[in-house]
Amino acid sequence: MKGVILAGGLGTRLYPLTHVTNKHLLPVYNKPMIFYPIETLVKAGIDQVLIVTSGPHVGHFLGILKNGKEFGLKHLEYAYQEKPDGGIADALSLAESFADNDSLAVILGDNTTDADISDSVKSFKEGALIFIKEVRDPKRFGVAVFNKNDPQKIIAIEEKPKEPKSKFAVTGLYFYDNEVFKIIKNLKPSQRGELEISDVNNEYIRKGKLRWAKLDGYWSDAGTFKSLYSASEYWARRDR
Ligand code: TTP
Repeated sequence: MKGVILAGGLGTRLYPLTHVTNKHLLPVYNKPMIFYPIETLVKAGIDQVLIVTSGPHVGHFLGILKNGKEFGLKHLEYAYQEKPDGGIADALSLAESFADNDSLAVILGDNTTDADISDSVKSFKEGALIFIKEVRDPKRFGVAVFNKNDPQKIIAIEEKPKEPKSKFAVTGLYFYDNEVFKIIKNLKPSQRGELEISDVNNEYIRKGKLRWAKLDGYWSDAGTFKSLYSASEYWARRDR
């Protein structure tokens, strides 16, 4: 299994900080945000990683991450998302040649977690695996809808619903087999003009090929001032 970190987007919610550099290079406590997803993948035994990025500050990544050796990576590759706000699935579409038929662990570049996903990496075979987490404010996320008669079964993912049907958010960590690229090619942009990762996951549900696991540990995005601050606070407290 190879790793993909999605670090495109414009990070508009963090203006004016993201006028200075790419969101994923802003500090979360004592290191650039993107170090966290890289370390999550490396800890899980993944040593080939693609970073998809975009926007005005793409050059900043190279000088910091170089060839990834300092993280224990054997191979670090970069791809450029031409439409920076094309959506998470649009960013993922750029990983097709890198994947080269292998399966992928995909992680959003602004997500930090201390969960250990090594066992899931070892046992993943096909389809899709999403990681869910109970949250207080599900409206901000893709939310899992469970079958009423079979609560182990997710029947849909609703993107930022006004009235969430559960408290379980779909975190920014997903495993996919190579089928994902066919699915993305058939996606239509959503109302907000993005290729949505929730549409990809719903297609796996339709095919009966989506599995889920609860993410065991701390997880947060860091894409708003509030979450950037609280993620920094969490990692600082852990370091004491
Ligand atoms: P978002 O936080 O939803 O989008 P954004 O990074 O553009 O920020 P804002 O809404 O403040 O403008 O995206 C979550 C992660 O997904 C982000 O950290 C990077 C990745 N992403 C891409 O790689 N490409 C994209 O087109 C989008 C929208 C997101």
